[in-house]
Amino acid sequence: MERFMKYRKWLAIAVLGAFFAAGCAALKESRPILPIKEYEKLIVGRLDADYIGTDNCLKACHAHDKNRRDFDMSTMGSQLSRESGLPLVNCESCHGPGSLAVEQLTPQKLAADAKAGKKTTCDYKTLVDIKNIPAPAQSLICLKCHAANATFNLHNWNASTHSINDVSCSDCHRIHGSHNLKVKVRDTAAMCERCHQDVKAAFSLPNHHPVPEKKVFCTDCHDAHGSASADKLLRRDTVKETCTQCHTEKEGPFLYEHADLTDDCRACHTPHGSVNNNLLTAREPFLCLQCHPSHPIAGTTTAEQKRAVYTRCSDCHSQIHGSDLPSPSGKGNFIQ
Ligand code: HEC
Ligand code: HEC
Ligand code: HEC
Ligand code: HEC
Ligand code: HEC
Ligand code: HEC
Ligand code: HEC
Ligand code: HEC
Ligand code: HEC
Repeated sequence: MERFMKYRKWLAIAVLGAFFAAGCAALKESRPILPIKEYEKLIVGRLDADYIGTDNCLKACHAHDKNRRDFDMSTMGSQLSRESGLPLVNCESCHGPGSLAVEQLTPQKLAADAKAGKKTTCDYKTLVDIKNIPAPAQSLICLKCHAANATFNLHNWNASTHSINDVSCSDCHRIHGSHNLKVKVRDTAAMCERCHQDVKAAFSLPNHHPVPEKKVFCTDCHDAHGSASADKLLRRDTVKETCTQCHTEKEGPFLYEHADLTDDCRACHTPHGSVNNNLLTAREPFLCLQCHPSHPIAGTTTAEQKRAVYTRCSDCHSQIHGSDLPSPSGKGNFIQ
């Protein structure tokens, strides 16, 4: 027994060490790391291909004339540097080097295709498989230029719920949609509701922020690219600040505050839509009765009191968000 006590310490260390080693092995196994070249291929395409420029890419082909026209007219396309002749952004910036794709397009092949009435296509499988690479790799294609210091609103992208959940830039931005790359806020509801059906349902409830009416927009409250400090991709640091950008009169501070309730408007309101008036989470008086008892009205008889059922506490407590004026008893109570 004494001997066991003597070696006990060493035994414990050995057991712990074994666990540690096993743990490390598990960590190693669960994170296979690809060679850098593989990642590069995801973003750049075939490494044995060369960049040949938009003109050479499209020389033999008119199928992409509209894409090209739109692109040339867009902010990205107009970045061509006239002095140097070096394009800053062209088709290959996103689709990868194109030499292999057009290698086969010899004048002879074009003539033969034309004669046979066949549509000529380039060997586009040698380009980046832009639609099928993992979402983070898709975004990386954009982020190699739209780094956070170049495009300010992307500062919080990497930590955003969207990025973490494999939403990519091109899920929202349609590069070939038209020449106008700018997102029109009027279109954001449709853009977002494609994926957020439950939110769409909330906005169709009888009481809702006028988003379907296009008076308020998803992007007034949310930044799709991420949020610095608030959860739910909110544009401002807190829920209260998000709401009081428009409802400034609810901001306070008031002499008589409703405890700290108004620090988070969600204590009583739901942001998108509700079956209750005023976007309330519950109807009055039940909303208030969750936290307060009802009370008799001064000057009424007992019988009347028993019959009295308040439906709207805020008929009397009309300054429910806070007030600077005292009530008749001098206490506050949000009467005026
Ligand atoms: C800023 C990045 C970017 C640039 C620059 C760009 N594209 Fe694209 N392109 C994409 C993305 C992303 C897709 C796939 C998603 C989509 O269809 O919008 C795509 C899709 C396409 C498709 C359709 C492929 C398919 O599978 O349907 C064609 C064709 C195309 N691009 C041609 C061009 C041409 C030609 C140019 C140059 C004039 C060009 N692209 C420049 C990003 C880009
Ligand atoms: C090779 C560099 C490069 C790549 C790759 C690139 N962009 Fe751009 N992008 C630019 C430049 C330069 C502009 C024009 C200047 C600006 O507005 O920042 C621009 C403009 C834009 C605009 C319009 C901004 C405005 O105010 O009109 C959007 C939206 C955009 N890019 C999205 C994307 C998306 C999505 C991708 C990936 C599919 C992408 N870009 C890939 C360089 C790039
Ligand atoms: C969930 C949808 C969504 C995703 C994903 C997304 N964006 Fe946006 N993006 C928007 C919306 C909406 C706007 C316009 C309103 C705003 O500024 O929030 C915008 C604006 C922009 C702008 C400014 C030009 C403009 O249209 O006002 C650029 C540049 C841009 N995004 C690039 C990117 C890049 C690069 C990525 C990927 C890293 C990305 N976005 C991912 C929705 C998205
Ligand atoms: C008036 C401000 C406001 C507007 C407009 C708004 N939201 Fe929200 N949204 C919020 C707030 C605040 C939350 C957090 C709610 C919570 O935590 O209970 C939220 C939460 C969400 C969530 C998280 C899930 C959930 O339902 O709680 C999604 C997704 C969402 N909003 C999408 C949208 C979309 C899409 C639109 C436009 C169609 C939109 N929001 C318009 C304020 C707004
Ligand atoms: C391609 C699909 C897609 C599109 C388009 C999209 N989202 Fe999302 N969004 C997601 C996914 C996936 C999540 C994470 C899972 C979830 O909460 O449903 C998410 C989560 C959110 C959340 C919750 C964030 C959190 O922290 O819980 C908000 C808010 C949100 N999206 C707003 C928007 C807005 C605003 C737009 C339009 C500008 C938009 N989304 C467009 C897929 C999308
Ligand atoms: C972009 C501006 C804007 C933001 C941000 C905003 N609201 Fe509103 N809110 C409106 C508008 C516009 C109305 C509709 C007013 C009307 O119809 O007269 C409204 C109406 C309301 C109503 C009354 C609904 C009714 O039945 O008339 C409540 C309650 C409300 N908002 C609470 C909030 C809360 C809580 C937030 C934060 C999550 C918020 N608002 C953020 C603009 C905004
Ligand atoms: C203690 C519950 C409670 C909290 C917390 C609360 N509200 Fe209200 N809010 C109400 C009630 C009840 C009504 C309906 C009052 C009425 O009908 O006079 C209302 C109505 C509103 C209205 C529409 C009528 C009006 O007075 O303009 C807006 C806008 C509003 N609240 C915004 C906010 C904002 C913004 C916050 C957060 C800073 C907030 N509320 C926090 C209970 C609350
Ligand atoms: C989530 C709980 C909650 C809800 C919901 C709520 N209150 Fe309050 N209310 C409080 C708290 C906490 C105080 C501060 C109590 C204190 O300081 O002792 C307070 C204070 C008050 C006061 C001041 C008197 C006092 O006890 O200090 C009045 C009046 C009041 N609330 C009325 C209402 C009315 C009317 C509603 C419904 C529109 C409502 N409250 C909804 C929690 C709530
Ligand atoms: C008919 C008007 C009226 C209605 C309706 C009403 N109250 Fe009051 N309430 C008052 C008055 C008046 C006071 C005392 C104000 C003062 O002088 O300080 C008061 C005081 C209060 C107080 C503070 C009690 C204290 O100890 O100071 C609370 C909490 C309260 N009411 C909650 C509610 C709730 C919850 C409802 C709805 C179920 C409600 N009231 C409906 C008029 C009303």
